[in-house]
Amino acid sequence: MNERITVLIEQLGLEPHPEGGFYKESYRSDNTIPMAAMQGVFSGDRAYGTSIYFLLTADNFSAFHRIKQDEIWHHYEGGTLEVHEIDPQGRYSCYKVGKHLLNGETPQRMVPAGSWFASCVAPGVDYALTGCTVSPGFDFDDFELANRNELIAQFPENKQIITELTR
Ligand code: GUN
Repeated sequence: MNERITVLIEQLGLEPHPEGGFYKESYRSDNTIPMAAMQGVFSGDRAYGTSIYFLLTADNFSAFHRIKQDEIWHHYEGGTLEVHEIDPQGRYSCYKVGKHLLNGETPQRMVPAGSWFASCVAPGVDYALTGCTVSPGFDFDDFELANRNELIAQFPENKQIITELTR
């Protein structure tokens, strides 16, 4: 494994994420939004906001999942990350998150609440270190990992990308 990847995992204290890749929560607000203030969307109180480091390597991918809040991705180092999204109407888009602005990349990408999304490094890239910030704060109760066959049944036109990026 690339030496830098080992340094990132060890020094940032990253752990395997259920969706694939490695992560570590780097920020969780001490303040809480009461459940009653959030229009019935969330199953309990939530922190104002949270942030994680998220590392993906060439031999891995983050599988399709969705959460209940917008998620902002930030590119820190390494190569380009591809973020694959399927919105609730079934429209597929791929966003390139990275530093090559003249190639259509952006250092941030906001994935809208409720969209299915998955990610992987671009071809030829070893790794990408990113961050993911959400508000209200993250809770695994708001996290849904896609079932491959159910997602294909719902969005048959996206069968190929769903098959590639689910387990
Ligand atoms: N904390 C644990 N997992 C996640 C995740 O997938 N996204 C965000 N934003 N925070 C997390």
